[in-house]
Amino acid sequence: MNPTPASAPTATLRSRIVGIDKKVPLLNGELATYVNLDNAASTPALQDVTDALDRFMPYYASVHRGTGFKSRLSTLAYDQAHEIIGRFVGADLSRNTVIFGKNTTEAINKLSYRFPVGPDQVVLTTQIEHHSNDLPWRSRAKVVHVRATPAGRLDEEDFDRKLAQYAGRVALVTVTGASNVSGFLQPIHRLARKAHAAGAKILVDAAQFAPHRQVEMKPDDDPEHLDFVVLSAHKMYAPYGTGALIGPKELFLASGPEYCGGGTVDVVTLEDVHWAGLPDREEAGSPNVVGAVAMAAAAQALMAVGMAHIAAHEEALIAYSLEKLRAVPGIRIYGETDPGRAHEKVGVIPFNLAGVSHFKLAAILGYEGGIGVRSGCFCAHPYVVHLLNLDEHEAGTWRDQLLGGDKSNMPGMVRMSFGCYNNTDDVDRLVAMLHQIARGDYQGDYRLDRATGEYIPTNYRDPLEQYFLLAPTTAQAGTA
Ligand SMILES: Cc1ncc(COP(=O)(O)O)c(C=O)c1O
Repeated sequence: MNPTPASAPTATLRSRIVGIDKKVPLLNGELATYVNLDNAASTPALQDVTDALDRFMPYYASVHRGTGFKSRLSTLAYDQAHEIIGRFVGADLSRNTVIFGKNTTEAINKLSYRFPVGPDQVVLTTQIEHHSNDLPWRSRAKVVHVRATPAGRLDEEDFDRKLAQYAGRVALVTVTGASNVSGFLQPIHRLARKAHAAGAKILVDAAQFAPHRQVEMKPDDDPEHLDFVVLSAHKMYAPYGTGALIGPKELFLASGPEYCGGGTVDVVTLEDVHWAGLPDREEAGSPNVVGAVAMAAAAQALMAVGMAHIAAHEEALIAYSLEKLRAVPGIRIYGETDPGRAHEKVGVIPFNLAGVSHFKLAAILGYEGGIGVRSGCFCAHPYVVHLLNLDEHEAGTWRDQLLGGDKSNMPGMVRMSFGCYNNTDDVDRLVAMLHQIARGDYQGDYRLDRATGEYIPTNYRDPLEQYFLLAPTTAQAGTA
């Protein structure tokens, strides 16, 4: 069931998801319609995206340097894709540029190479970040982490304190728009105002934010303006290998690109190089035109539905889920548990079930429920250790085991995460399975692979090759 009215603009989204009705095999040999609750990792494609690609692919050709009709058409589509993504995030494109790359991680790494941080300056980030918005900065600058509250929210008093402590020395504030672990939304515009007042710029990692809320960079002279935004297409229904970095042209024109080569230059002599304009100089080599067209088609589809409608649909679903999950015996939900505060987060809910390890719980849901979730630490180790309230001794023991190649005691959680198309039936399927598992009512005899932490049912042959196969497996090739 859809938690929002059938007349809502989000109502048609479910039927526009590629593969929404696919049945998958279960451990008991039956088939079940797949329930995808792992959208924070990657969303399925929207039909709008595959339709756009079906129309585009027959005309696909090289961009920028080709003179044929198809090249001219592909160049137009690629250029328009930049404009559409600029519009999607509310950027003023007279002063900002949209740079396509692989994903959010690459975009942040790129910015970390280009963003000037003086030897006395710091980058202020938070304990809540995905590793992709933390590690790239650690190798470039002194990084200061703002703490999270025990419940996992940003400790804004600590933010203010650290901004004051490093007064005049904060080059950049970099925060996630929404957490990929707890779903908490950050007060990005308020933080922008504070960062600017302190003379710093702000980067918002919108990888989890953009699929759920309207990104508003705001005018460049607005104190709440977001200086840089990064996002990934595979988290917004266009899984074709593209991400984007949006930021002021001025910064990228100030120096040569960190990657250079074909496409980045206007003139090259044996002695000299004149870099091309933007975004070309920042997109070295032949670009992923198909990925850019897909990303733009997804952005258009989301804009047509309206991000406010998507947010309302997901809020209703979060409130419904929290209500239902709370009734599962032995469940521990992390972050926000009050359905009345669903508007403070995007559709990401982490939990654990007493007596069942997170790895095993996720495995049972997958093998026996046909439900896709994720478990572990979600590339946010410091934040997950904090949410689990582990002391340094416990965390240290686990880290030592992990470094020794044993993941069996790795702490973590199971994460359910919504896309704009999930409905209450999906939640009901998950909750019913959780009740069953809490009663010990599952069939598989699961074996732990210590090296990966994965639980695999014994005596089960995963029939993957019956569903998709690029080439015969070794076993099949041997019997041919
Ligand atoms: C908040 C956040 N930031 C960054 C990333 C990295 O995104 P990508 O893997 O597309 O580079 C993720 C991915 O899960 C994320 O959730």
